[in-house]
Amino acid sequence: MPALINPSILSADFANLERDLGRIANADYAHVDVMDNHFVPNLTIGVPVVKRLAQVSPVPLDLHLMIEDADRWAPQYAEAGAASVTFHLEAAQAPVRLARELRAGGVRAAVALRPATPVEPLLDLLDEIDMILVMTVEPGFGGQSFIEGTLPKIRRARAAIDGAGADTWIQVDGGVARPTIGRIAEAGANVFVAGSAVYGADDPAAEIDALRTLAS
Ligand code: DX5
Ligand code: ZN
Repeated sequence: MPALINPSILSADFANLERDLGRIANADYAHVDVMDNHFVPNLTIGVPVVKRLAQVSPVPLDLHLMIEDADRWAPQYAEAGAASVTFHLEAAQAPVRLARELRAGGVRAAVALRPATPVEPLLDLLDEIDMILVMTVEPGFGGQSFIEGTLPKIRRARAAIDGAGADTWIQVDGGVARPTIGRIAEAGANVFVAGSAVYGADDPAAEIDALRTLAS
């Protein structure tokens, strides 16, 4: 399948989110980082803002919830107008029940892993989830450097998904940019989040095209 490029609006101008969503109209999804200042040491936006972003975005929203007690809060984000909702395995009590609830709400359900969290617990549950998000930095901030040691986890996930004949997507988030995206694609990822690389570029739309070409 073709590489999907999901720019993270964490690196956009928070006073001009509608304008900056308009700058990535050639993206596949807009990646929206929701942080609660507990699961990660940073705080961003919540349900009311996500609802408005969903109304004005030219592309569907890919939500990345970096919040505690995902079982309780994630379903509200499915109702907010997102196309995809990702919660962290480390923050969910009953990830399968939650993924089923999200799917029943009409969104793609995805599970994220911090760099030190193994992917193996998910590999017997591929039928239950639409995407695995392999974090390639510690979540919380944009602009960090890519952790090379996460590449074998991507390779193991790709081997398991292909071996099972599943169509679970593999998303990578953190330090994705021109120097790294080729290696990440080669390891087996097919969905690429890029924050500082896209919004730090003079022409974000051209950078999306360049990253997509490098990943394909
Ligand atoms: C970090 C967020 C990322 C962040 C990536 O916790 O989940 O989506 O925006 O930023 P870059 O692409 O700059 O590493
Ligand atoms: Zn993210």
